[in-house]
Amino acid sequence: MIRLLLPALLLLAAAPAAAEDGRAVFEARCASCHAVVAGAPPGAGPNLAGVVGRRVGGDPGFGYSPVLEAAHEAGRVWDAALLERFLADPEEMFPGLWMGSNGLRTADERAAVAAFLRTAW
Ligand code: HEC
Repeated sequence: MIRLLLPALLLLAAAPAAAEDGRAVFEARCASCHAVVAGAPPGAGPNLAGVVGRRVGGDPGFGYSPVLEAAHEAGRVWDAALLERFLADPEEMFPGLWMGSNGLRTADERAAVAAFLRTAW
């Protein structure tokens, strides 16, 4: 029984830790352009509160580039996996993107930021 429970408990403990790491990375690398509080006005970039599960280009207060408008029209939705791929090379996923950031170099950082954004409402 313990052998079954232990991995489950470790998983539960690891999830908030990743989100906390992600918060620190977000503050350092993303927060200058992105708010993560619901209802806050967009900055240089769209508000990312609730972005996981939201349509791409889904901040109604932000004027997106044509490439993100097109993804919005196509009905694409952000989930953690899509975010992690996006952050590996934002321009590759959306050529012509207006985001003045190269994303995040390490898979750990990308996973942590995606975990953090899942908790940001
Ligand atoms: C220099 C400002 C800037 C920085 C730094 C920045 N972004 Fe962005 N971000 C933008 C802009 C501007 C857009 C909208 C781009 C467009 O319309 O093409 C955007 C778009 C996005 C989107 C799509 C949002 C949506 O509503 O579909 C996500 C997700 C995102 N950024 C995440 C991040 C993360 C995570 C970081 C930190 C690793 C980051 N950004 C760093 C400016 C920035």
